[in-house]
Amino acid sequence: MTSSGTFIMIKVMTWFIMLLLCLDQSVPQFGTTPNIKHIVVGRCYHYITLVDPSLRFDCEEIWRHFEEAVIHRSSCNVAAEDYHQMFDAMQQPWPCDRFLFWSKTRALMHVYAAAVGHFWTLEDTLVGFMFNDLIWCGQDEESGFNFSSCPEWSAGRNHPVYSLWRQASQNFAEMACGNITVLLNGSIPNAFNRKSMFGSVELDSLNPQRVDHVNIKVATNLQGPYIESCSRGSIADLIQILQSRGFRWTCIDNDQTLMILQCLQDPKQPSCQSTFEQLVAQTQTLIHLNQ
Ligand SMILES: *[C@@H]1O[C@H](CO)[C@@H](O)[C@H](O)[C@H]1NC(C)=O
Ligand SMILES: *[C@@H]1O[C@H](CO)[C@@H](O)[C@H](O)[C@H]1NC(C)=O
Ligand SMILES: *[C@@H]1O[C@H](CO)[C@@H](O)[C@H](O)[C@H]1NC(C)=O
Repeated sequence: MTSSGTFIMIKVMTWFIMLLLCLDQSVPQFGTTPNIKHIVVGRCYHYITLVDPSLRFDCEEIWRHFEEAVIHRSSCNVAAEDYHQMFDAMQQPWPCDRFLFWSKTRALMHVYAAAVGHFWTLEDTLVGFMFNDLIWCGQDEESGFNFSSCPEWSAGRNHPVYSLWRQASQNFAEMACGNITVLLNGSIPNAFNRKSMFGSVELDSLNPQRVDHVNIKVATNLQGPYIESCSRGSIADLIQILQSRGFRWTCIDNDQTLMILQCLQDPKQPSCQSTFEQLVAQTQTLIHLNQ
């Protein structure tokens, strides 16, 4: 067998193993997060007290609307619209030029948002802050939450957790204005996935009249693989959609700030050598300029 044949075979096998792993991930099931009321209400008070004291929201009322939306319905039948009263009770103003959208780049997004400081992601909004990482569902017969088991996220369009995030994502995208940033993962196929929250909800909710530029950043893992880029794969489809809807856009592969942040976490990667050298050279130039 030729070496390229071996390479393709290894690639196919890798994909097959990854597919099996993906299928396997859906097996564990959890019920509603224990102490959900205390967590949600506590996070709400945390937010309006410490994160943004200018907000005047009634955390108990928000909880009541949330509970009403969820517990009187069967576990897999809460529509996004059922949360409307809750969302009405927590409408938040957003500054322009700070919206950060992401797909399959969660860890890097957190590092990036923390380093750059001025980005707003869905997790920075009150609703995102309150419900991050929680699970919930009602019970078919009695009222109350089902703490022993909830359906899988993929079980249906009206999954209570999915519906809340879909509505929250839609609201977030509808409010986006000025320059927005989209952080995508170039180390996976379908970096722009029409089934992701970004591809299925947020993109369609962006308003070309409010958004000046959609600035796409494609980040790959330091060790690769290098599967998609601004000019390769599904990201070209995204650009096509943006163009047809009248958005102005830019797209950058391997943005330097992102590379540096990745390298700081894993400095021994061979690809970090040149990044650090460039950085040192730039810093030296800056020092010279300032002298
Ligand atoms: C890209 O996705 C893979 C698989 O989900 C993940 O392991 C990796 O950290 C992601 N890379 C970046 C740069 O976010
Ligand atoms: C919780 O959900 C599971 C799975 O949907 C169901 O079998 C179980 O009866 C529910 N528990 C209660 C108390 O309704
Ligand atoms: C918005 O993005 C465009 C393109 O990247 C850039 O030229 C412009 O300076 C940005 N404006 C602001 C306010 O950041």
